[in-house]
Amino acid sequence: MKKKFLFGRHALLALSLACIAGGYGCGSPQNASDNKDSQGEAAEVVDGASIYKRYCSRCHSMEPPPKFGPPIKGIAIHYREAFAEKKEAVEHMVTFMQKPDASLSKCRPEAIRRFGLMPAMNLSEEKLSVVSEWLWEQFDPELKRLHDSGHHH
Ligand code: HEC
Repeated sequence: MKKKFLFGRHALLALSLACIAGGYGCGSPQNASDNKDSQGEAAEVVDGASIYKRYCSRCHSMEPPPKFGPPIKGIAIHYREAFAEKKEAVEHMVTFMQKPDASLSKCRPEAIRRFGLMPAMNLSEEKLSVVSEWLWEQFDPELKRLHDSGHHH
């Protein structure tokens, strides 16, 4: 009798463990290992800051003085002015980088006169959109204040 009772409890325990394991099996651990895989890759290529360092930083500094193009924080200011939605801004940047076109530029015309047009970026659309999202986040309100007062004086 006692054994049966214990067995019953074990069975219940085993069942609930199986449920937990099952839940995790279909959810977290699988996802966790997926995440791990993509994070391993992310550290190299699919992370906005790394993509910037690797493919953009030789021309774009973060802040003035500029290198061969406008600084990232300046671009972020212009994109925040031109677009209310991050999603639209990102789509626009991706399109621009795939095929730069002066008529699509959201920077001031002086930027293109001064630096010339940016060369097309031969990167996957995913990388372009990750780096564009990152760029949008580099908006710096303090720099915008300086930038705006610079424009008006
Ligand atoms: C060979 C130099 C060079 C590289 C590399 C480069 N850029 Fe540029 N970029 C420029 C120049 C020059 C401009 C300014 C003229 C223009 O807007 O095309 C510019 C402008 C931009 C603009 C503003 C576009 C607009 O609306 O006018 C964005 C956004 C941008 N770059 C993002 C990037 C990102 C992200 C990368 C890396 C994936 C990158 N750039 C790599 C030279 C470069």
